[in-house]
Amino acid sequence: MKLDLELAKKYSRPGPRYTSYPTAPHFSEDIGPAHYATELNDAGTPVTDEFSLYFHLPFCRSLCYFCACNMIITSRREHITDYLNILKQEIDLLSRQINKDRKVSQLHWGGGTPTYLTADEIRDLMSHIRSRFSFTADAEISIEIHPGEMSPERVVAIAESGFNRVSCGVQDFNPKVQAAINRIQPYEVTAEVLELLKSNGIEHFNLDLIYGLPYQTVESFSETLEQVLTLHPSRLAVYNYAYVPWLKKHQNLIDEELLPTPEVKLAMHARIIDYLTSVGGMAFIGMDHFARPEDELALALNNRALHRNFQGYSTKAGLDMYSLGITSISQTYNYYVQNTKLISNYRDMVEGGQLPVERGIRLSEDDHLRRQIIQDIMCQFELDTNKLSANFGIDFRAEFEHEIARLGTFVDDGLLVDEGDKILITENGRLFIRNIAMAFDAYLPRDSRPTTAKQPRYSKTV
Ligand SMILES: C[S@@+](CC[C@H](N)C(=O)[O-])C[C@H]1O[C@@H](n2cnc3c(N)ncnc32)[C@H](O)[C@@H]1O
Ligand code: SF4
Repeated sequence: MKLDLELAKKYSRPGPRYTSYPTAPHFSEDIGPAHYATELNDAGTPVTDEFSLYFHLPFCRSLCYFCACNMIITSRREHITDYLNILKQEIDLLSRQINKDRKVSQLHWGGGTPTYLTADEIRDLMSHIRSRFSFTADAEISIEIHPGEMSPERVVAIAESGFNRVSCGVQDFNPKVQAAINRIQPYEVTAEVLELLKSNGIEHFNLDLIYGLPYQTVESFSETLEQVLTLHPSRLAVYNYAYVPWLKKHQNLIDEELLPTPEVKLAMHARIIDYLTSVGGMAFIGMDHFARPEDELALALNNRALHRNFQGYSTKAGLDMYSLGITSISQTYNYYVQNTKLISNYRDMVEGGQLPVERGIRLSEDDHLRRQIIQDIMCQFELDTNKLSANFGIDFRAEFEHEIARLGTFVDDGLLVDEGDKILITENGRLFIRNIAMAFDAYLPRDSRPTTAKQPRYSKTV
C-alpha cells in the first residue's frame, strides 16, 4: 500500500464515516416516538429474528481534551444512580414492544465510560437487561473499558455478567502526548488490567489508538505501536483524530500548533498500516480497523460478511439495532431514530411512558439503495453492478450514470478499477474509502466543495 502526499492533499476534506446512511446530520425532529413504536409493532415491518442492543453510559471522571464522544464529566455518583434508574425504565418500555421470540445476538455498552459504573451497578444493570430480553447462546457481549477506571471487583463483575469482548481505550503510550491530552495512563496500568481480564476468562479485546494528537511523530507513534503489539490485541482501532473544535469546544484546550502537520500525519498513517500488517501480522480491515487473521472480523472480511453499523465494523450483518440511553441511535428496517440528548428530557419522556426519541429519518427507496451501495463500498470494497441491478430492479449503470462519472477521478488515480460488471476498489483505494462512498451520497452538496463551509459537519477523510 502506497500513500501519496499529493493524493492525500487532493482528497482530504470533511466527510462522513458512514456508520449510517443517511448520516445523523440529516435526521429531522419530524420523526419521534410514535414512528419508532409503529416500526417496532407493525406486523408489516420486516424485523430480524435476532437483534442488537446498545446502551449508552455517558459518564466519565475526567475530561480527555481530544474527546469527541457524547459524554458527561461528573464526580457525583447520584447522577449515575439517577441515570441508571431511568435507563432501566427505558429497558422496560422497549422490551414490552419486542416479540419475545426474538433474541439478542449482539450487545454493546459504550460511552462515555461504562466502567465508571461500580461493580454492583454493572451487575445490577446487566441482570435487569437479562431479565427483560433473551440471548442467543453465542451472543457477542462487549463493553468499552477505560483502564484508569477499573478495579479487580469491576473485572469480576464484567466477567460474571457475561461480557466476552472488551474494547479498551489507549490512544497513545507516550507520556508527553498523554500529558497534552490530559489522559495519564501508563503502559503498566493497561497491561495489568488486560492481564486481569484474561485471568477472568475474557480473551478477546481490542485497543483504541488515535493518530494526529499533539506531539506525536512517526517515531513516537511507532514506539506506541510496538508496545501495543506486546499486549496481543485481537483487534486494533487506530483512529484518525477527529478534530472538530466547533462542535466540541474543549478540543480548543489542545494548542492547534502542537498537532502534527498533514505530511507527518500521512507518514504516520503509512507507518501504521505497514507496521501492523507486516511486523504485527494483522489484517487491514478497512478505514481504521485491524484484526488478527484468525479473528472473526478478519474472517468476515474474507467471507464477505463484514458489516458496518454505529459501532464501526461488525460481523453481525443487517441486524436491527435498538439503542438505549441519551443520544443513542437505533436502526430498524425503515428508520434511524436518535434518543434525546438532555437528561431532563430523557427523564420526562421515559417517566411519561414514551420511548425517548427526539429525531430521526425514514428511509426512502433511494436511501435503501444508496445505503446498500455505500455498505458494499465500505465493507466489500467493490460494487457488483449486476447484483445491485437484480436486487433493486434497476439498471445500475443507467441509474447511477452521474455517480459513475464522478468515480473517474479515482480511476485516474489508480484507486478504483471499473470492469463494467464490477467496480473494484484497489488496495490504495481503501485509504480513500470515505471519498469513494461520498460519490454516492445524495445528501452532499455537489456545487461547492464542503471544505469551503465555515463549520463542516464532518471530520477530515484523510
Ligand atoms: C467512548 S471512548 C472509549 C471508552 C473510554 N471512555 C476510554 O476513553 O477509554 C471510544 C473511543 O473513541 C475514540 N475517540 C474519542 N474521541 C476521538 C476523536 N476526537 N477522534 C478520534 N477518536 C476519538 C478513542 O479512541 C476512544 O477510546
Ligand atoms: S475519551 Fe473516553 S474517558 Fe476520555 S472523555 Fe472521552 S469518553 Fe471519557
